[in-house]
Amino acid sequence: MKKLEEENLKLKNEIEELKNKISIEIERNRRNDKMLFQQSRMASMGEMIGNIAHQWRQPLMELSSITMELQAKLEIFGKISNQEILEAINKSNDITKYMSQTIDDFRNFFAKDKKRVQFKITEQISSAINIINSSLKQHNIKLEIIVMKNSFITGFKNEYSQVIINILSNAKDELVNRDIKEPKITLRIAEKDNNSVVEIEDNAGGVGIEPIQKIFEPFYTKNKVNGTGVGLFMSKLIIENNMNGRLFVKNGEKGAKFIIVVPKSLDN
Ligand SMILES: Nc1ncnc2c1ncn2[C@@H]1O[C@H](COP(=O)(O)OP(=O)(O)OP(=O)(O)O)[C@@H](O)[C@H]1O
Ligand SMILES: [Mg+2]
Repeated sequence: MKKLEEENLKLKNEIEELKNKISIEIERNRRNDKMLFQQSRMASMGEMIGNIAHQWRQPLMELSSITMELQAKLEIFGKISNQEILEAINKSNDITKYMSQTIDDFRNFFAKDKKRVQFKITEQISSAINIINSSLKQHNIKLEIIVMKNSFITGFKNEYSQVIINILSNAKDELVNRDIKEPKITLRIAEKDNNSVVEIEDNAGGVGIEPIQKIFEPFYTKNKVNGTGVGLFMSKLIIENNMNGRLFVKNGEKGAKFIIVVPKSLDN
């Protein structure tokens, strides 16, 4: 009888011990999950900040070139006309508006519920060109725009502009780095089989990497002082994951040709 009691007590103790072990394990797992969750949150925050930094570099350069121009004029002529000041203010306003929109867009990009809108291709292309135009001019790069068909597409407007800015600024980088005579970028806006098709071609001599698709890999960058290799990776993500489209590259006759295909909005 006594032996049975002893056995019982032993068993009870073992069960208690086991219970303790289980709750310790559960707590450990919970902490691991929480850590993983926090890590992935940190990673996407880092990604978001990286993207904002990438998208801000260009407009920041434009802003500083506007103030530098004002300063130079003041130093040379001793005065600036109201007209010139007004133009500088308007340009700066556009640029800061774009920069603040970038933050909103990236927040949406990483948040779950995103608001898609319908927009005209040329609207977003012009807003991209407004951002990058002064640095194209500064390097005497000619930009030719051919509009065959201006379609409506659906998605995040500003993200689409970001893709155009990334591709144009890469073309600019190559044209400048390779010191191309009569540098030129051609942008064709057309439509094919219910898709909007935008082609951006430069005359910088093409992508010298095999296989050519490698340029879309994250952190792939070549011959650039400040390159992070994020631009094209992010652009592909925006077009293919967020807009159901395709972004690809070919080497054309005189240089690289980027092609952005996005389905047209259904109701037009
Ligand atoms: N138009 C082009 N002609 C030739 N090579 C290009 C062209 N566009 C991109 N590339 C090549 O693709 C690489 C990757 O471009 P991507 O925009 O992803 O990164 P990056 O421009 O090097 O850096 P970041 O955009 O982060 O400043 C470039 O470093 C360049 O070598
Ligand atoms: Mg780039």
